Amino acid sequence: MQRAVLISKHIYREAVDYLAGRVQLDYHDSDDGLPSADLLARLADKDGLICQLTDRIDAALMDAVPNVRVVSNVAVGFDNIDIPAATERGVIVTNTPGVLTDTTADLAFALILGAGRRLGESERYLRAGRFRQWRIDLLTGWDIWGSTLGVLGMGRIGQAVARRGRGFNMRVLYYDPLRQSEDLERELGIEYVSKDELLAQADFLSLHCALTAETHHLIGADELSAMKSTSVLVNTSRGPVVDEAALADALESGVIAAAGLDVFEHEPEVHPKLLRLENALIVPHIASASIATRTRMCVMAAENVVAGLAGHRPPNIVNPEVLD
Ligand code: GLV
Repeated sequence: MQRAVLISKHIYREAVDYLAGRVQLDYHDSDDGLPSADLLARLADKDGLICQLTDRIDAALMDAVPNVRVVSNVAVGFDNIDIPAATERGVIVTNTPGVLTDTTADLAFALILGAGRRLGESERYLRAGRFRQWRIDLLTGWDIWGSTLGVLGMGRIGQAVARRGRGFNMRVLYYDPLRQSEDLERELGIEYVSKDELLAQADFLSLHCALTAETHHLIGADELSAMKSTSVLVNTSRGPVVDEAALADALESGVIAAAGLDVFEHEPEVHPKLLRLENALIVPHIASASIATRTRMCVMAAENVVAGLAGHRPPNIVNPEVLD
């Protein structure tokens, strides 16, 4: 008998095509997620779930639908899922790493360039009809080339950002609780420093860590004060890694120069001050949003759920200990 899978939200057609014929599908083909009561009701007769980062999968939900054996997240991050609770209950959780690395690094770099060179502000200025004459100090910003890039979190995406930084002739410093091998440091041309050094030296600080209890508010008022007043903070990881109210205050009072933000603490809400500040370049969680990458993520999530339900080890399992 075919396994039954719920897709909680609209995904790319290629993934739905892959699933058709392999599993019995219940597809909630909508951009609006299912309210938790509806999610629960539709999971009552399912073996697997393809969900997105806007779906909260917690212990209570898993207890209510013990029939669900595989939860496949269409994202590399999985902070929306209670992993220890899943593991305790024998639920396989999967994600979509790798395919989005370079696309995400591109957007992080776009934010570095855009915030450093004041692109959002410049465009608003022009569109508002304020460009009446060229001026020597019109919308001057901060050089990217030759400056110091700080990378906080040197996983796949951090490495891809570091490579881009080296391409712009930047000095690249990094901090990660796990130091990379000397070979990789040499290959990438990166230097390992303490977190304090990173904050003090970076002209551009780009965040690439997962959201965990340890990284919640990793960047708060103290850390922002430790940064250069000319520095730029870029976040494409998860919003709660930064204390958003503290960041808004720091941008307003000139503690740091600018920020490029793809993610927010209470998405889709954005701190009202950030919406007003010219030195905040803000975009709506689009780091992996190229058509090709988002398509690959969806197909990967589909492959993960099919493999898990067939009793195989899914290629991208987050909690492999569940199979022990
Ligand atoms: C997007 O934020 C992801 O985690 O893939």
